[in-house]
Amino acid sequence: MSVSGRNRIGRHLLSIGDLDRAAIERILDRAESFAEVAGREIKKVPALRGRTVVNLFYESSTRTSSSFELAAKRLSADVVSVRSVGSSVDKGESLKDTVQTLSAYDPAAIVIRSPRVGAAQLVAGWTAASVINAGDGKHEHPTQALLDAFTLRRRLGALDGARIWIVGDVLHSRVARSNILAFRQMGARVTLCGPPTLIPRGIEALGCETTATLARLPEADVVYVLRMQHERMRDSFVPTLREYASRYQITSARLKPGQLLMHPGPVNRGVEISGEAIDSPQALIGAQVKAGVAVRMAVLYELLVGAPHLAAVA
Ligand code: NCD
Repeated sequence: MSVSGRNRIGRHLLSIGDLDRAAIERILDRAESFAEVAGREIKKVPALRGRTVVNLFYESSTRTSSSFELAAKRLSADVVSVRSVGSSVDKGESLKDTVQTLSAYDPAAIVIRSPRVGAAQLVAGWTAASVINAGDGKHEHPTQALLDAFTLRRRLGALDGARIWIVGDVLHSRVARSNILAFRQMGARVTLCGPPTLIPRGIEALGCETTATLARLPEADVVYVLRMQHERMRDSFVPTLREYASRYQITSARLKPGQLLMHPGPVNRGVEISGEAIDSPQALIGAQVKAGVAVRMAVLYELLVGAPHLAAVA
């Protein structure tokens, strides 16, 4: 839910639009302190002891689900992870019934990933728990944007004035939408690059520019590559993957020394990015995954412990 004012974090995290720059910075600062916990032998703090976090994943996930689970465990919460496969969702239970069933455990937070746009927003209306959007269809994935901003802030010191190119299938990407908003909030300049069929019409309204070729790629400080999201494509958006790769694949040869390379994962090696580029020292992909745990700890902490709305009712 949107809250106004500086440095305010509401009860839920449904969209990056819920956060102003000060709130983003506060989450990233908190994540810095939790990143230190990851360096300890005993990687646990008692902040959420006795509280319950439910992870509800209706769509495939490796990084997001494992890092939310680890984040909640490192904060000492009790964690229940439900996947649609193997749960009663398989038997036709609706999202609302599932949320109401799990709400009987009185969770402090529900983390939800769903193939449907707006699912997290709906869940927020059905439960007293704080709701965190872990990806709703092609709409938003706010914690991915926060972990990417964290990774870049660590590397560059600040994002102000950084030129970030987001390359590939923007149309089907919730990561692109959340990252454009977060990068802009943090003062970066964003350019979207891809075949016109994969760049949503009117997206410039978010404060970015668009281009259909890699010709000006050397201008970029950061090249953020998106996966070709076959599972969300009903029609054919590019003539062939081979054709796509020849025009848009990010390879070591197309990168300039010093440019940073990012990808949210999972990668299609040899389609949107070459194997060699993934494994190059310019790639921050491993750092992004690592940041996921500290940033999700920070989000859980800020929503459940540090948020002003709690102070107001305490
Ligand atoms: C992304 C997702 O699921 O939105 N992955 C992720 O969370 N790290 C991007 C993708 O699927 O391409």
